[in-house]
Amino acid sequence: MWDNVSAVQVRRYIWPTMNDVTTFARKNERRLLNELRAFLTIPSISTTPAHDRDCRRAAEWLAEHLRHLGCPTVELLSSDTHPVVWAKGPRVPGRPNVLVYGHYDVQPPDPLDEWESPPFQPTIRGNNIYARGATDDKGQVFSIVKAFEAVANGGRPPINVAFLIEGQEESGSGVLFDLLAKRRDLVDVDAVLVADMPYYAPGWPAIEVGLRGLCYAEITVRTLKSDLHSGLYGGVAPNAHEALVHTLANLKAPSGRIKIPGLYEAVARPSTKERDAWAKLPFSEHKFRTGEVGSKALTGLQRYSPLERIWGLPTLDIHGIMGGFTGEGAKTVIPAAATAKVSLRLVPNQKAKTVLRQLAKAAKAAAPPFADVKVEFIHGADPVVLDVTAPPFALIAQAFREVEGREPVPIRSGGSIPVVPALGAGGAPVVMAGIGLPDDRLHAPNEKIGVDQYLKGVRVFGRFFQLMGDLK
Ligand code: BES
Ligand code: MN
Ligand code: MN
Repeated sequence: MWDNVSAVQVRRYIWPTMNDVTTFARKNERRLLNELRAFLTIPSISTTPAHDRDCRRAAEWLAEHLRHLGCPTVELLSSDTHPVVWAKGPRVPGRPNVLVYGHYDVQPPDPLDEWESPPFQPTIRGNNIYARGATDDKGQVFSIVKAFEAVANGGRPPINVAFLIEGQEESGSGVLFDLLAKRRDLVDVDAVLVADMPYYAPGWPAIEVGLRGLCYAEITVRTLKSDLHSGLYGGVAPNAHEALVHTLANLKAPSGRIKIPGLYEAVARPSTKERDAWAKLPFSEHKFRTGEVGSKALTGLQRYSPLERIWGLPTLDIHGIMGGFTGEGAKTVIPAAATAKVSLRLVPNQKAKTVLRQLAKAAKAAAPPFADVKVEFIHGADPVVLDVTAPPFALIAQAFREVEGREPVPIRSGGSIPVVPALGAGGAPVVMAGIGLPDDRLHAPNEKIGVDQYLKGVRVFGRFFQLMGDLK
């Protein structure tokens, strides 16, 4: 279906309709903002069981909205608590099929006292809407929903659109993985559109050609049958926290090199061409360190550039250490067990399953001989690299050029979206291009989305739909 597409052929269709989506976004600005705010009010935190009902509510809200926009098929699939919202727009014979992926679940909002306005009371300050999920991913995916509304043409959109919006992205996508394993037909489309990642910089849209994968696990070390008095047994009883700290410290060298045997074997370094392109991107290490990271130094393997360290190399991070006594005051105890939550970000061609085995083996080898080590897998994702030469990539580039005045730059991202490989499993090009900004603070306090970015999203994705529809 993508043969013989030339820029000239595409261009002929652009200009007459360009203004439609722009006018739509301008005329409906207030309503578009109010609807997004309603969506953001629902605390659909998928990582916290206490919010299961809120996840369900967010799914129902979205389903109702898609019905209201004229989708003849809208279903909640595969789970009572975290259903996948599946919707199909009106059938338009002979036009391409575009599948929109996104997620309605969000990360926990803590630490709460760092929010300037409550995370689930979306608040506009300056040119931004502040709320948990504003950019990740409710705001971004909802801009696509509104783009669909913009081009829906009273029931005859320019293309066949389907939505697959899940409620477990932040907790590993289990439900959607199961669904896609059974329903391969869902990804049998001409293009998949994912808006769950930011621009490279303000004014610089991006097409994501790579995502890192993830291997998230808990390492538990046990040294005693039970906790002991540190006065009566201190000096002879092995301390689980001490054993855990040694174990963790043994897994990474001060240089930043991860000491897990075999870990780097599968790593494919980005091509010289790709690295040269990265080197041409505007990037100030100083600004990045002081403005975004907020640290005295950037860590990691210093012989690689910061961008390569984030986009092209694996990591090992400790997220939290549990066990022992952490309450107020003092308790003289020798802890019997201690657990660390850790994760590795993975790059092509690493596999989450293989890395889990390597981590488990390395953790056991790194622990003192008297410690029992258990490594429990929590969730994971394989890394992604995409070929971005199929026509839909040229069309999203064109849409950005028209709306933003600049073509998207091809970049990778350090983040992970577990189902992306499964979305492309049917051979469809997966177009990953979001409209957030790098300082949107996803997963952090005061998450936001720019009002103008959100409205630009409606226009860019609306244009993309129109341009896709004009493909013969
Ligand atoms: N949208 C993010 C991933 C992302 C962020 C990709 C920025 C590209 C650029 C997504 O919601 C996310 O946070 N994913 C998790 C993975 C999951 C298994 C918890 C992540 O990357 O930590
Ligand atoms: Mn996301
Ligand atoms: Mn996220």
